[in-house]
Amino acid sequence: MKLTQALSIDDLRKIARTRLPQVIYDYLEGGAEDEGCLAANQAAFAKHRLLPRYLVDISRRDQSVELFGQTFASPFGIAPTGMIAMVRPGADLMLAEAAAKADLPFVISGASTASIEQVARVAPKSWYQHYPCKDAGMTSDLFRRVADAGLSTLVVTVDVPLHSKRERNIRSGWVRPYKPTLAVMLESARHPAWVADYLRNGLPFMENYRKYAPAGLNARALTSFYADQVPAPHSWATLDNIRRQWSGKLVVKGIMHPDDASQALCLGVDGIIVSNHGGRQLDRAVAPLDALPRIVEAVGDRMTVMLDSGIRRGADIATALCLGARFTFVGRAPAYGVAAGGTEGALRALSILRAELDLVCGQIGCPSARDLSPAFLDGAPTQASTQQAAPLLQYVAAS
Ligand SMILES: Cc1cc2nc3c(=O)[nH]c(=O)nc-3n(C[C@H](O)[C@H](O)[C@H](O)COP(=O)(O)O)c2cc1C
Repeated sequence: MKLTQALSIDDLRKIARTRLPQVIYDYLEGGAEDEGCLAANQAAFAKHRLLPRYLVDISRRDQSVELFGQTFASPFGIAPTGMIAMVRPGADLMLAEAAAKADLPFVISGASTASIEQVARVAPKSWYQHYPCKDAGMTSDLFRRVADAGLSTLVVTVDVPLHSKRERNIRSGWVRPYKPTLAVMLESARHPAWVADYLRNGLPFMENYRKYAPAGLNARALTSFYADQVPAPHSWATLDNIRRQWSGKLVVKGIMHPDDASQALCLGVDGIIVSNHGGRQLDRAVAPLDALPRIVEAVGDRMTVMLDSGIRRGADIATALCLGARFTFVGRAPAYGVAAGGTEGALRALSILRAELDLVCGQIGCPSARDLSPAFLDGAPTQASTQQAAPLLQYVAAS
């Protein structure tokens, strides 16, 4: 299948699968242990059915959203994906470029191989994702660089207290430090376009950390230097400290419990991303979409609640917005795109999702995506009953 023939995110996944060696595809696609969480994330969306309203004027439709003083063209952005340049050299910058062209936020991974400064030049509305690291001096310097590069939003990921057990990755040979075995090399030879890229460019360097590491490290040794820093032990005190150091907008990624959302709010956090890291960390974790309503009830009117994990369709984005998310992120969807066709492929992923969301909003009679609410979900309370109870909780109780 050619890129121009891809109609869905799954089509892009199939092209990526053909192009990538198994070990790299598995790194992108895989989850923790039995990958039950991975499946549950997508199944959570399929449980909900949309309830269309007709005879509504939908001739002008709008997806734009204002977030932290920035306006974006659609209610989704590109989630951080570390070491994504393994799928294609320069993939971080390609994703950043696609996000900028589509007027969406790109979140630079803490494990990016492009530097903060490079990405900010390509996509000035990017956000930076940080994993708490052991060296406090390095953390402050990274925050300074983010601010100096003109980026206003810092995302702190808290759902990696430990490295997880990704059995698929171990079986296919993705082990740290990355050094291909003979079996991996033989399988990779069946994907000549990827191998040619890899031979031309070598392993990608984690550019953000070069200045902190001993001089002259090769890419593999630099990755090990980074892996020794992250994950660092962290607690609410760490987050409090980050809040004091960072004066821009602060988002916490990986919050799943309403009490944790409330605690983040107390510390002055501006937004949270309800996320289970796309099923890559805790295999028995609840799906973010299922955790969302209780979190929205707890803090939704006082902080920006966003969501990722499992989004593959515009209808998934609509469903998350109906359940109270203000914004969403996609990790694998644009990553399949960039693996399949570089910047063009990433743009295709973003435009597929945008067009699908537009179609859903038009089909259900909700011309502004900002107006999506539980009333567009089957099982939602009728207008009369919404006067008695909050529609979101009533919907959750009934479904
Ligand atoms: C290959 C890959 C690498 C990732 N790296 C990071 C990372 O560096 N930092 C982070 O906070 N999340 C990371 N994530 C998680 C994503 O940001 C996001 O939470 C997840 O992909 C959302 O699920 P989805 O892929 O089903 O959209 C990664 C995900 C993937 C697939």
